[in-house]
Amino acid sequence: MSGHGDPVPMMARKGGALTGEAHVPGDKSISHRSLILGAMAVGETRITGLLEGQDVLDTAKAMRAFGAEVTRDDDGTWHVHGVGTGGFAEPEDVIDCGNSGTGVRLIMGAMATTPITVTFTGDASLRSRPMARVTDPLALFGCRSVGRAGGRLPMTLVGAAEPLPVRYTVPVPSAQVKSAVLLAGLNAPGQTVVIEAEATRDHTERMLAGFGAEITTEVTDEGRVITLTGRPELKPQTITVPRDPSSAAFPVCAALITEGSDVLVPNIGLNPTRAGLFETLIEMGADLTYENPREEGGEPVADLRARYSPDMKGVEVPPARAASMIDEYPILSVVAANAEGPTVMCGVKELRVKESDRIAAMADGLRACGVQVEDGPDWWIVHGRGMGGVKGGATCATHLDHRIAMSFLCLGLSTREPVGVDDGGPIATSFPIFEGLMRDLGAEIERG
Ligand code: S3P
Repeated sequence: MSGHGDPVPMMARKGGALTGEAHVPGDKSISHRSLILGAMAVGETRITGLLEGQDVLDTAKAMRAFGAEVTRDDDGTWHVHGVGTGGFAEPEDVIDCGNSGTGVRLIMGAMATTPITVTFTGDASLRSRPMARVTDPLALFGCRSVGRAGGRLPMTLVGAAEPLPVRYTVPVPSAQVKSAVLLAGLNAPGQTVVIEAEATRDHTERMLAGFGAEITTEVTDEGRVITLTGRPELKPQTITVPRDPSSAAFPVCAALITEGSDVLVPNIGLNPTRAGLFETLIEMGADLTYENPREEGGEPVADLRARYSPDMKGVEVPPARAASMIDEYPILSVVAANAEGPTVMCGVKELRVKESDRIAAMADGLRACGVQVEDGPDWWIVHGRGMGGVKGGATCATHLDHRIAMSFLCLGLSTREPVGVDDGGPIATSFPIFEGLMRDLGAEIERG
């Protein structure tokens, strides 16, 4: 599955129980940040457990283009020889970030305060996504940019020669925007301050502290006020990437809706800024438990055990929880379709500007499978049909969106008729082993 080649039609059907252990890959957010901060440190950072999905491989390639040496041992250990804060060289060619919003937005931040000129592009999905949310705050540092109408890629950024520190309140809940500003602040003198009204994933803050930057977070009436002191010498690190809760979501939810299932998903990062889905599933009545909770590399980790849960009920998901499960609404809607009663999801307009418009993509496919869905600009309601009550029998469009593809394939494990997707190729961006892992658990997922 390339994510960039010919479409890969796939199909899932109801079969036997899912059982066994699901070893999901490394966290995508932490993997991007490990490579980028490794490239901005002086010396060699070693990374194990890196997600080797296309999104992260595109970021590795970009870091090489900026002058960092990035290599992989046969045992899967990655080495990044960084060039230091402000040490990025001007790439000789266009930086193609493929499907990855995180990759392009974080790299824009990382180069914005170095006087180099860089042109960015990506696939059709990424070229349709808004970049002004990042280039607007980067302009405050003195970084210029020009792109297509609506702030779309391809786009060229000219990094600031004499950057100024910035105080910026992030207008939408976005860890990518917050992180871009913090990475730009690394090469600005003085203190850069980012304020976010709602807490979003805090991997950048945690990792910057780990690399030796001076960074503090204060919780005030305005929200979280994050202060970074510019021009630190980042010290190379040894990083073990925890496994991705956003990938764990798929085998967990598939087990909840597949009769007789009992699946263990070990070593999942449960940073509170990422664990909103699991909290919601437990509220719905899911038989989901955290086993062996512990701390690893400064992050809370546990083994998740998910068992078939035929009596789940629809819930109203608190909008305040949205940021901690923003990538998990598509798979939640699949569980919601198999629960009794409505599941109400509000305060989620960001879903409309992800790899696809995720509310539209899921609503269309769920309706085609016989599920009633209502939606508005920043909300949607899935009317559950009870366990096993969804007809299926449709081929759903995935719009170059990995999470839409995986969500509909999980749905097909519970429906009366099989569910197809027009293109499973993009799954390789975040979860390249999805198909084999699900089949090993017993899922009937096939190509064609
Ligand atoms: C991410 C932040 C989120 C999330 C994305 C990864 C990150 O995007 O949807 O998959 O690693 O910072 P936004 O910042 O657009 O909310």
